[in-house]
Amino acid sequence: MLEDAIAVLRCPVCGAGFQTGVGQVRGLLCASGHAFDAAKQGYFNLLTGKGTVFEADTADMVSARQRFLDGGHYAPLSNAVADLAAQFLDSPDALVLDAGTGTGHYLHAVLQKRPVDAIGLDISKFALRRAARVNPQVANIVWDIWRPLPVADGSVDVILVVFAPRNAVEFARVLRPGGRLVIVTPRQGHLAEAAGRTGMLSIQQDKEERLAGSLGGHFSLEHSEELDIPLTLDPGTLADLAFMGPAGHHRDPVELAEQARAGGPVSTTARFSISVFTLGDMPS
Ligand SMILES: C[S@@+](CC[C@H](N)C(=O)[O-])C[C@H]1O[C@@H](n2cnc3c(N)ncnc32)[C@H](O)[C@@H]1O
Ligand SMILES: [Zn+2]
Repeated sequence: MLEDAIAVLRCPVCGAGFQTGVGQVRGLLCASGHAFDAAKQGYFNLLTGKGTVFEADTADMVSARQRFLDGGHYAPLSNAVADLAAQFLDSPDALVLDAGTGTGHYLHAVLQKRPVDAIGLDISKFALRRAARVNPQVANIVWDIWRPLPVADGSVDVILVVFAPRNAVEFARVLRPGGRLVIVTPRQGHLAEAAGRTGMLSIQQDKEERLAGSLGGHFSLEHSEELDIPLTLDPGTLADLAFMGPAGHHRDPVELAEQARAGGPVSTTARFSISVFTLGDMPS
């Protein structure tokens, strides 16, 4: 429930907990009186100060992502992620944190399998508008994952990171002992044919060692699986796929759509790696 998720949030100014109850309709109020408005779409903005140096996904990028994900092309991935995460969310008071929740698509799949308490963090308010509609029972929070997370120590059973930044120190702090970090990354050759057609930035592959390295010795790999999804994409879908990623920040959508149209449908393969980490040192 939203109330239970809010109970584990911490004020980013003073670290106190927030009041739960009717006040949430208008915003969150901490025990020391720091107040954060609720957006009318239902998410909360806890980012204070100057904002962030990171470039948030735009409304157009979020719409492209939504159309692509709603098309079901990555359904095998959301099923696999939900199956894995569900294994670690079997207690009735379990809590899942989706870091970089985007439009809330993968978190939705998890919550359909296990309707537990959940927090979604993202830096893009456009993404969270959608996430708040898809997952209204989730505490959807505008936040920068590179800052200390506004979440209590040792309060989370599963952290989900699907193509989003990884703040290992903070992930380790907020996980409960025995908690799991579930990470989805692209493998070498991910969408290579589609990238060739649209000039998408070639996707930086996250080799296993690189992934482990980025977790800074805070986590040990427990399980890893590969998932390949063959796709045949029409030009409109291809353009959405390109635009929902980093290309969306610097490419003109009309030009991208024209490029995608040249040559008809494209066959390509999405190549993912899904890894589960537990707290503790990596064996050297
Ligand atoms: C590639 S999208 C993935 C979104 C979602 N997990 C999905 O797979 O549909 C990356 C997401 O991370 C968010 N993001 C990027 N940098 C961030 C940061 N520093 N803090 C919070 N969110 C961030 C973006 O706004 C975007 O929604
Ligand atoms: Zn406070």
